[in-house]
Amino acid sequence: MVPVFSKVAVIGLGTMGAGIVEVFAKADFPVYAVDGSTELAERGRGFVTKSLERAVSKGKLSEADRDATLERITFTAELSDLADADLVIEAVPERMEIKHSIFTALDDIVRPDAILASNTSSLSLTEVAAGTRHPERVVGMHFFNPAPVLQLVEVITTVLLADDVADAIRDLALKLGKKPVVVGDRAGFVANALLIPYLARAIALYQTGKVSRVDLDNACKVGIGLPMGPLTLSDLVGLDVVHEVCEVMYAATKRASDASPSLLRQLVLAKRLGRKTGQGFYDYSADAGAEEDAGTDAMTASAAIVGKGELATQLAGAFAKAGVTVTAIDDPETDVADLAGSPLVVLVGGAEAECANCDSGECDVEGKDADSACCSGAAPGNWFSDVAEVLDARTVVLAADEASEFAVAGVLDDDVALLPLRVHQETKHGQVAEFGVSLGTTDEQAAMVRATLTAAGFVPVAGPARPGLVVDSLLFQHVGDAVAMVDAGYATPQDVDTAMTAGCGYPRGLFAILDDLGADVVADGLLEQGSVDPTVVPNPLLVEHAVRDLPFLD
Ligand code: 3HC
Repeated sequence: MVPVFSKVAVIGLGTMGAGIVEVFAKADFPVYAVDGSTELAERGRGFVTKSLERAVSKGKLSEADRDATLERITFTAELSDLADADLVIEAVPERMEIKHSIFTALDDIVRPDAILASNTSSLSLTEVAAGTRHPERVVGMHFFNPAPVLQLVEVITTVLLADDVADAIRDLALKLGKKPVVVGDRAGFVANALLIPYLARAIALYQTGKVSRVDLDNACKVGIGLPMGPLTLSDLVGLDVVHEVCEVMYAATKRASDASPSLLRQLVLAKRLGRKTGQGFYDYSADAGAEEDAGTDAMTASAAIVGKGELATQLAGAFAKAGVTVTAIDDPETDVADLAGSPLVVLVGGAEAECANCDSGECDVEGKDADSACCSGAAPGNWFSDVAEVLDARTVVLAADEASEFAVAGVLDDDVALLPLRVHQETKHGQVAEFGVSLGTTDEQAAMVRATLTAAGFVPVAGPARPGLVVDSLLFQHVGDAVAMVDAGYATPQDVDTAMTAGCGYPRGLFAILDDLGADVVADGLLEQGSVDPTVVPNPLLVEHAVRDLPFLD
């Protein structure tokens, strides 16, 4: 018989449980909201009331609707009250023994045909189900934080589940205005299996001390356009939850990047769990000082922009607007002797123009890439190397693309700071200009570059001068994980994109991003990243798409 849901119960009234209660009550379902004691049930009432108040104060809910919603909820500490529930969703802490004791107790309370759902984000649903008297009615119903806002519901099936239950839960999720994705029982399901390793990589990078927390968050929020940076999001999800999912993921995959970073473990042991305890990567207490703004005091007074193209024009305009005296050189015939002693020289996309023979395909520079028709600007005596020859340690050189970097590497004196610069596409949060620092970069040089980019209206991100810098190393590996999930036959590209947009608020799914970038660009980027971290390898399916130039989405 197809289950019908009239009366719903939610057990566990923490952040997620209270959010789930609100979702059902707002959708006109009578709800039992249960926690382990009267105090905890009252605390849950407080969470739901506060959230509804917030909606009222924003004009999204009338006071009458708030009252009607609260009236539909029965807050209780008694499991025995749930005898007439058609669906019970547990959202208790992620410990198997707690889940088992609740499901065992429910076996004696609810009707044999009532559906038991778990909001577990990390434990094996099959193990939860197998411990009950009727495993065929135990299903996963995984909501995302904040549950009233995010639309994804992962419906998790097991090999023990009765045929019609997943469909009934999917239909229910649709009735709640959610977007369901039905998948099997695998560590992390879809969204967490992609989100949590990305968070763990970001935390592992942060713990190296090579990137500040604000830069790291800006790299993803502003650089990629995600709703929050990874450290802010970890604090929202709860560091204990991120840690638990890492443990489960690592146990299942044994992939180094899934392991819980030691800083995360330390914060969990220290009970700094993020927003819910007032401190995590950030301090949420009322007396926490505001993040220090580096300001623009250290910016350069003058800069040379050498090169052609849109980015060169954008940088020259933005620097000039910021009050920097700009020398823009876009003609290879210009005498560059005057650049000696410049504090800042930016090389942009001009490398192709350096070797006259490249354009005609007749370049015969010794040592050029055998497969390539040209020397990519590496020709001796080229424009950029003329510039490189006049510069000394007084100058910081920013190379805005690989070709420019390649054109001067080996020509510049060793004591000249050559930093990679990548200006990312503008997103709704701003535009990131990311630069790489290496062992030879002084604090003053990094501060000068940061201050100049800030004054020019960019959001600066400084990280190690390694392949992909911060933005592309996190993004490409995140995308690479999604391809591996599809290659494993667990989810479709459409499922993944629904999960990440509806569950994590991504403005576009990972496959939409991948198709935009091109599979070849991501595969090449991962290969480059693999040159410094051998655990990074492009998935074979990604390589196939790259070779055949095939998008993942229709
Ligand atoms: N409850 C109810 N509504 C909330 C809310 C909450 N806790 N938090 C935010 N909102 C509402 C606001 O009222 C606002 O509504 P409005 O636009 O209609 O006025 C809307 O959400 C946007 O909120 P804000 O303007 O305050 O802030 P943002 O625009 O930054 O949005 C956010 C906040 C919705 C949290 C957004 O940043 C986001 O989607 N972040 C990503 C969160 C995410 O990835 N969650 C998934 C984590 S993984 C998970 O939960 C699974 C688990 O198993 C680990």
